Amino acid sequence: MNIDELKETLDELKQKFDKKKNNIDDKESWNDLRVEFLGRKSKIKDLFGLIGDFEPEDRREVGKLINDTKDYIQKEIDRLKEKIEKAEDKIKYDLTLPSRKRDIGKEHPITSIFKLSKEIFSKMGFDIKKGPEIEEEWYNFDALNIPISHPARDEQDTFYINEDKKVLRTHTSPVQIRAMLEENPPLAMIAPGKVYRSDSIDASHSPVFHQIEGLLVDKNVKFSDLKGVLYKYLSELFNESSIELRFYNNYFPFTEPSAEMHMSCIFCEGKGCKVCNYSGWIELLGCGMVDPNVFEAVDIDSEKYTGFAFGVGVERLALLKYNIHDMRYFYENDI
Ligand code: PHE
Repeated sequence: MNIDELKETLDELKQKFDKKKNNIDDKESWNDLRVEFLGRKSKIKDLFGLIGDFEPEDRREVGKLINDTKDYIQKEIDRLKEKIEKAEDKIKYDLTLPSRKRDIGKEHPITSIFKLSKEIFSKMGFDIKKGPEIEEEWYNFDALNIPISHPARDEQDTFYINEDKKVLRTHTSPVQIRAMLEENPPLAMIAPGKVYRSDSIDASHSPVFHQIEGLLVDKNVKFSDLKGVLYKYLSELFNESSIELRFYNNYFPFTEPSAEMHMSCIFCEGKGCKVCNYSGWIELLGCGMVDPNVFEAVDIDSEKYTGFAFGVGVERLALLKYNIHDMRYFYENDI
């Protein structure tokens, strides 16, 4: 081979390479190309082996010619590799793809009832109070006139924390006690919050549920004030001015007299339907006038002051307001 023939061979090789490189679009075809043109058995490698056959004075030029072609191919191979890698990245991060849709939930029904209730009672001048969920027995029971022998203190209903006389509060009524110890009458407050009872889960029971406690203490508070406040609250909450309330005689250790309040069924307006068990009435909450023994426990003069209290289950309100039939839905986090 002479120099001219070598030049021709290198030209052909370059042309062949240029033609093939245009079809390279992935790592695999790129590697084939690299092996074919720069590998151990490539034409370039053969040509390097021929340098020794040339006249010594020509070897320098021959070497440069072959090297130039090899450098060209090497550069192109490197450029192709970069291009392929960039394209692959683009597939990994395609910024033009629409984002993944997430299901966005709504406000939890329990939260909605809390919010609405706070709004309604705030307008009536009630403060919003909080108390601890891990509560001392004294606040949860003793101060509320619930004697040791009372069934509500039974281990079956109450979660006892330890021997430290602490329980998971079984109702929001201990917040009444805390409020009355903190403030002198007149006072009006509600206490929304979680309560705990050792119940098993079914459509209408859960070991954790929510209550709103209400308390108003002043001079000359009467049972009719309780009725008025409850009527205002429930008619606003359910957006129904035509509800009726009735009060049944009942017993709670911390109120005297005590009552169980029923509301006319908001679904059938008292005619009778599935929700109200065809009675026209829905049992909703417990209430009554603060028992003098409770006032005594918090050092309020029951000769001077009277008060009313009520406690309502929030799940029950939410079931009715949003027409949900099973409490378990509230805790399943199913959007
Ligand atoms: N604490 C009572 C309960 O959990 C409800 C209640 C509160 C009743 C206030 C009367 C007065 O059942």
